[in-house]
Amino acid sequence: MVIGSFIIKKERGETANKSAGTFICGNCGYHSVKAMGRCPVCNQWNTFTSAAAESSHSSAPLQLPLSILEVPSASATRLPCGIGELDRVLGGGLVQGSCVLLAGEPGIGKSTLLLQMAQSIAARNHRVLYVSGEESPGQIKIRAERLEALSPHLLVSFQAEVEAIEGLLRESKPSLLIVDSIQTMASSEVQAAPGSVLQVRECAARLFTLVKEANIPLVLAGHVTKDGNIAGPKLLEHLVDVVIYFEGDRSLGVRVLRAHKNRFGDTSEIGLFQMTGAGLREMSGVEHLDLSGGGERRGGVLTATLDGARVLLVEVQALASQSFLPVPRRVVNGFDFNRLLMVLAILDKNGVHLGAQDVYVNVLGGISLADPGADLAVAVALVASHRELTLPPLLAVGELGLGGEVRTVPNLEKRLEVAVRLGLRHFLIPPSKGVTKEGKGVQRWPLDDVKALMRVLREINKEAL
Ligand code: TYD
Ligand code: MG
Repeated sequence: MVIGSFIIKKERGETANKSAGTFICGNCGYHSVKAMGRCPVCNQWNTFTSAAAESSHSSAPLQLPLSILEVPSASATRLPCGIGELDRVLGGGLVQGSCVLLAGEPGIGKSTLLLQMAQSIAARNHRVLYVSGEESPGQIKIRAERLEALSPHLLVSFQAEVEAIEGLLRESKPSLLIVDSIQTMASSEVQAAPGSVLQVRECAARLFTLVKEANIPLVLAGHVTKDGNIAGPKLLEHLVDVVIYFEGDRSLGVRVLRAHKNRFGDTSEIGLFQMTGAGLREMSGVEHLDLSGGGERRGGVLTATLDGARVLLVEVQALASQSFLPVPRRVVNGFDFNRLLMVLAILDKNGVHLGAQDVYVNVLGGISLADPGADLAVAVALVASHRELTLPPLLAVGELGLGGEVRTVPNLEKRLEVAVRLGLRHFLIPPSKGVTKEGKGVQRWPLDDVKALMRVLREINKEAL
């Protein structure tokens, strides 16, 4: 049993010796010495094929290392998209020969953004090739008419086979290749379904080679689902140069573009868009945004995140209820799962025992909180639910340390300023020097640790009753 599981782990690893296995699972890429009916890793049936084709790659010619001084400098030439919010996230535009992955849930607006980007570049007399494996040219035309993306330099093609894209590139010689989406592409040389790990990896590798040779940028759309369990974006993240996530709450219409990785720029800036009847509209001058819905607030725990120069106000909700399961549930949406486990452990050490409770955490506004300053808000929402506290609308900003201490966050004052402007009056913040001054009706509670938080929450609860 132990030996068996060791072998599986070893073969699953990226560094596992591929030639050791002669059969490969078409779904997850697991290598095995014998063909099996059911894959032991992903549990899919009848997915094994011979891996002989894969091991026939010829080795690349030997290239001697160069002194760094001899390496010709590739001053990254960029092709600006002409859409300010997108260029801001890309770090100034698309770099020649690079690959950008635009990831997001289905229906969030990836195809819309890509078509608007294609139009913006084509309008400056650069030929753009937009290859879709999802929509026929007729369907793309309907969208293009809505978006007024009708430049003669915008070429569209309905194609789901990567080998054919090579021919398209040779014929049309575009300045930019857009492929929508990587999950619909397939290579005839790989026997696996489109969207499977093997196909996604193979198609991406072929497309990278094509655009590197042609020295043009490539933009790929990739679908992710809420559980992030699909082949695609996660698999490609380390292969591509830039990974951008497109997220947002469909009911609000606000879309946030966030660089998760950028080899040619910084990842702190975000792009803001509004989805309208005529496509995505840039929210250029916006310095701060209330994604919590605003309006009449009667309660709720909010936090203020800082992305580049922009402050976003978001609401964090939590529910802790008695569990009837052997292993209580932890369901989290918009916040890191492992960080939630850490917050739960810190609360447990401080007398809030949620070990036998199902815990649900949800971030409203449809965005993922990457800022550790959101820890305190999650803790407050959990305590409030567990202890059934009645709280006024609160803003909680602070990172939690493993010892339960509340740590400060960059630009706290700027975040608080925005929250005051958006109508919040109660602030739970890290201990900060020299912030004793309180505005009209504004109450600040600087907290040293979770113990202090518990005391303050009891106090606010009494006042609110
Ligand atoms: P789409 O770009 O097709 O999403 P994805 O490619 O990420 O799957 O966007 C689809 C949604 O956007 C759909 O619900 C309709 C909406 N939409 C608008 O509201 N206005 C528009 O002008 C367009 C083109 C789409
Ligand atoms: Mg689409």
